[in-house]
Amino acid sequence: MTQEEALDSVKANVENENLIKHMLAAEAIMRTLAKHFNEDEEEWGLAGLLHDIDAELTQGNMQTHSKLGADLARELGVSEAVVHAILCHNEAHGIPRESKLDKALFCVDPLTGLIIAAALVRPNKRLAGLETRSVKKKFKEKSFAAGVDRQQISQCSQVGLELDEFIELGLEAMKGIAADLGL
Ligand SMILES: [Fe+2]
Repeated sequence: MTQEEALDSVKANVENENLIKHMLAAEAIMRTLAKHFNEDEEEWGLAGLLHDIDAELTQGNMQTHSKLGADLARELGVSEAVVHAILCHNEAHGIPRESKLDKALFCVDPLTGLIIAAALVRPNKRLAGLETRSVKKKFKEKSFAAGVDRQQISQCSQVGLELDEFIELGLEAMKGIAADLGL
């Protein structure tokens, strides 16, 4: 399973452009984290890219979300480690996050939304020039992008990252694909 095949499959199952961008952002951050931790970049990238592949098919049903996604990912031929990370990124199933990959995907998921929101309120609506400290400030402002789960982002401690460092890595990763994100 190549990145290209995975992206084709995402596009075959997801119409919403923002949702596709969310998965591309998650992929980019997962790749950067894998590099940071000396883990398998392709594997971690696939987990990020495919994690919400079922989001439109499950139509907000948290009981089926990520179960169907895990099945789809397995059919696509990803490793069981990636399947598990996708499955347990949705807490509704009560499946414990075990591996570093599981834990990374969980905290990366909401970070993409915080960074995108922080970019969109800037005058140029761009990621370029957006600094870690601005994102950190937005993190602390509870009313800003209120749907973004701060608690979940804070779980970066579970992979041994301080919040600042996590935001910095996420920002760097997303700046690297700013054009794809339209930011
Ligand atoms: Fe997600």
